[in-house]
Amino acid sequence: MAGIGRHVPPTVLTNADLCQRFDTSDEWIRARTGIRSRHVVRLDEATSDLAVHAASAALRSADATAGSSEASADVDLVVLATATPDHPCPATAPLIAARLGLGAVPAFDVGAVCSGFVYGLAVADGMIRNGVARRVLLIGADAFTTLLNPADRSAAVVFGDAAAALVLRAGRADEPGAVQSLALGSDGRLAELISIPAGGSRAPRGEPEDRWIAMQGQAVYRHAVERMGEVALTALERAGWSVDDVDKFVAHQANQRILDTVAGKLGLPADRVYSNVAERGNTVAASIPLALDEADESGELRAGDRVLLSAFGAGATWGAATLTWPRLGR
Ligand code: UT7
Repeated sequence: MAGIGRHVPPTVLTNADLCQRFDTSDEWIRARTGIRSRHVVRLDEATSDLAVHAASAALRSADATAGSSEASADVDLVVLATATPDHPCPATAPLIAARLGLGAVPAFDVGAVCSGFVYGLAVADGMIRNGVARRVLLIGADAFTTLLNPADRSAAVVFGDAAAALVLRAGRADEPGAVQSLALGSDGRLAELISIPAGGSRAPRGEPEDRWIAMQGQAVYRHAVERMGEVALTALERAGWSVDDVDKFVAHQANQRILDTVAGKLGLPADRVYSNVAERGNTVAASIPLALDEADESGELRAGDRVLLSAFGAGATWGAATLTWPRLGR
């Protein structure tokens, strides 16, 4: 891990704003999710717009980490984790690479929704380990609020929009910033937990209401708590770490109750659990890298900290990773 950056769109949507649109209350939203406000895209902002800003910040950070010896043009692979590409076709990563002026670099999207960043990390890590790439720009970006049914108060309170990016480079496995272990999983029998029924090859057009996200909130909650804890333990075991070795748990910021419950099941005290969900909401594939960047900037994450990542999302998919936090330039 050699550089990090983020971008949150400037427009803020508070719980009070949601109360104007729905029969809901600040108390209900805070009690169920811990969320007070979230940032959302304007009508003219797309996922690639967020991603280009975040990626530029990560490339600047990588330059600052390396000093003047390596230039950002050296990126040789772009991986974008997203569930909200600018268009159904083509993928958004090549568009981002072009806007960043990265030349004929390979670029593709990874679709694992809220687990997308951990899946993308596994792809980037594997590409570097087997020598296909030496410097990967990995972006998690979503404008998930563009998929929310204006009549669905339950999903409306949960999600926000953002992008965050990492630069990963080839290095030694024992260096700070090297991925120590990964664990991934999926269960397609749970595909209906969070889905958009129409707009794909199964139902290309469908009814207008089938073009929005449909979420079974309680079932998502139950599976998320179970799988995020389980996959985190697998990643720890693969790294040879115990729960006590973890300095910071930076999990997918789905909702404060999910974070608290997973941490409780793992036996992690609250001061080792990072959360920015109150002001960001669930930013889907951006959630974990956004949390890493904000935790690094605020000093909650320090060089040498042993970090555990864990996520659960639509699919259903889940994933976890361990790494030791590096010193990153800004
Ligand atoms: O990365 C994964 C992404 N998804 C998630 O993380 C979502 C996980 N799930 C959740 O966070 C919660 O399920 C929600 C916050 C989405 C919903 O909370 P809940 O406690 O599971 O509520 P519920 O869906 O079981 O609904 C309970 C009641 C219902 O009313 P009745 O039928 O009992 O009268 C809902 O209509 O709460 C009502 N309700 C609301 N009331 C006020 C649902 N949404 C709202 C709302 N304001 N925004």
